[in-house]
Amino acid sequence: MLRCARSIKTAKRLYATASTKGEEIKARIELKRQAALEGGGQKRIAAQHAKGKLTARERIELLVDPGTFRETDMFVEHQCTDFNMASTKIVGDGVVTGVCKINGRTTFVFSQDFTSFGGSLSRTFANKICKIMDRAMEVGAPVVGLNDSGGARIQEGVDSLAGYAEIFQRNVLASGVVPQVSLIMGPCAGGAVYSPALTDFTFMVRGSSYLFVTGPDVVKAVTNETVTQEELGGAGPHTRKSGVAHDAFDNDVVALARTRELLSYLPQSNREPAAPRLTTDPAERADLALDTLVPTDSHQAYDMKAIVGRIIDDSRFFEIMPEFARNIIIGFARMGGRTVGIVGNQPLVSSGVLDINASVKAARFVRFCDAFNIPLVTFVDVPGFLPGTQQEHNGIIREGAKLLYAYAEATVPKIAITTRKAYGGAHCVMSSKQLRGDVNLAWPTAELAVMGAKGAVGILWRSVEDRGAAEEEYNRVFANPLPAAQRGYLDDIITPSTTRRRIIEELDILKDKRQQNLPKKHDNMPL
Ligand code: HXC
Repeated sequence: MLRCARSIKTAKRLYATASTKGEEIKARIELKRQAALEGGGQKRIAAQHAKGKLTARERIELLVDPGTFRETDMFVEHQCTDFNMASTKIVGDGVVTGVCKINGRTTFVFSQDFTSFGGSLSRTFANKICKIMDRAMEVGAPVVGLNDSGGARIQEGVDSLAGYAEIFQRNVLASGVVPQVSLIMGPCAGGAVYSPALTDFTFMVRGSSYLFVTGPDVVKAVTNETVTQEELGGAGPHTRKSGVAHDAFDNDVVALARTRELLSYLPQSNREPAAPRLTTDPAERADLALDTLVPTDSHQAYDMKAIVGRIIDDSRFFEIMPEFARNIIIGFARMGGRTVGIVGNQPLVSSGVLDINASVKAARFVRFCDAFNIPLVTFVDVPGFLPGTQQEHNGIIREGAKLLYAYAEATVPKIAITTRKAYGGAHCVMSSKQLRGDVNLAWPTAELAVMGAKGAVGILWRSVEDRGAAEEEYNRVFANPLPAAQRGYLDDIITPSTTRRRIIEELDILKDKRQQNLPKKHDNMPL
């Protein structure tokens, strides 16, 4: 940024000494260019740094492949004349927009500049964002938005609100067409939060970002509740409680690096598959530890992430929402170099039960993968849906139906591996054969049944004296994968150590799968 300060001086000198009309125009352009590069000025840049935040341009530099950023609309200035605004212009108007390469692939980027009018959104600011979103949809390339803004530019009134609505409209049109990623790297409040909410992934920076519809002052006035910005809308509550954010990182640098990594798994648009990445991890690699990792005692917990890690390429798992609804895991991995979406019940947390949060978390992920041609690999160990008034009264029926709906409508390749329990409705939901599962495999430890032995005996043989013997008999019949395999509900029972090879082979067979749902205007999934 010091470089900018020196350059602006040079530009001013050139301007002052220009002797011909041509020189004067060139010098004026250069002066504007340098002013745009400097944003809100050195004092505000220093204030930004003092908060541990990078500037809009520094962020772009870290996000994109070196030297690839091509800026658009650098010279845009706002058109507002009220409240003395005609004499208060900052070149670029508070947002840096353009196109670049990330991991060698075209990506559109906007980066809100808190040093210019607090990153507040004017009509021209919105126009700049809309322009790159339109191009992204036409070209078929992702959009990454770096958010750091005081919200609607107050001086512009309804023009600013119209600008937001234009962006929301494009977020919706782009949904399912090109991947959209939002980074929250400062304030994001009021209606402004709805743009990130409409995008596919929202990441936050711990300690310096927040998202809320109304801030602590309004909360106090309306509800008399005293709460800090961090407690109300910081990374903690949004990654653990609300599930609004998909992950949070310690600082800007890590957040930008992780965004690059996420993009490496995604396709450019819904028109194409994700780019494969070569791996040295052999497709036929057998992991013998898998043969004994699932405890024979079906009440004993184990870590599904450890299982997944042993099966995917190079153990590299890009987990989404790691802190929210930890009873289910979702994320991206590669198998034989191809991107897959992983969904897995997590027996380590609440026995991997499906509750409202887990259902909604996984449903949105399944829909993302389906929209963007990413095959789904599902690891099943689920005791059922969580019982109780809290869940029932908050709509587990509707929310659980979302996951069912998502799997049922998905037409991408669907492979499921049942490692242990698959009970009741939850069995049906988790990528079952009848939901058009392409390949349904089980390990020998799998148990597919309406419910566990205790529950079944309690209902069927209430008056039986030797309940232990009844449970044993129930387990002998149901606590194994054979009944399902005998009926063709499972395609095969495999040795766990061969799982990686088998999935890669099946993905290869399924790579040209074509399946279409009936034509409709749009579906009516339970919301
Ligand atoms: C115009 C704004 C602004 C805004 C900040 N600034 N927000 N200018 N419109 N919305 C300017 C400030 O005047 C200041 O200018 C500079 O940005 C930095 O702001 P500070 O307040 O000094 O920074 P800080 O102390 O870090 O506080 C940041 C802040 C605060 C918490 C974001 O600025 C703030 O509360 N802003 C207003 C937030 C707000 O209520 N926005 C509207 C939300 S409703 P100078 O020249 O002094 O540097 C909304 C509706 C959207 O957005 C609806 C969409 C449908």
